[in-house]
Amino acid sequence: MLRIALFHGVNLDHLIGRDAELGPVSSLRELEDKLMEAGQELGVAVVPFRTNDEPEFIRQVHATQHTSDGLLINAGAWGHYSWALSDALRAAAIPAVEVHLSDTSQREEWRRTSVVADECIATIKGEGPEGYIRALKLLIDHLELRK
Ligand code: DQA
Repeated sequence: MLRIALFHGVNLDHLIGRDAELGPVSSLRELEDKLMEAGQELGVAVVPFRTNDEPEFIRQVHATQHTSDGLLINAGAWGHYSWALSDALRAAAIPAVEVHLSDTSQREEWRRTSVVADECIATIKGEGPEGYIRALKLLIDHLELRK
């Protein structure tokens, strides 16, 4: 069974459910549950991880190369400036899809930059929780094609 890591970075545990721009989801826990359920229906294991600690996030990205087949990543604001995270994704060399709940291209200027997009096979943004389901399906298709 494919193992898909679902990573949430800085502030998402606080922003989800409070920031209207992130769409109709009431908590990070609810989002993780929804994705684990979708994974079950699609025959893959979705394994969530979240932290507000950047070094820990990076250590866990490194670890995915041994523990996971693919990665769904919403790094929060780190995705806009953390070149260390970009390098970690490159080092782990794991197929990853970048996800943002909100449409970062329609918000403040600084959110338009992604330093992780080039290390990911796709970016899905502005589709709220449904975007994660699409990202999951896309990642599964990619992994199955590689077999
Ligand atoms: C976000 C977008 C980021 O710009 C922001 O810093 C977040 C949430 C999103 O899911 O829309 O933390 O990643």
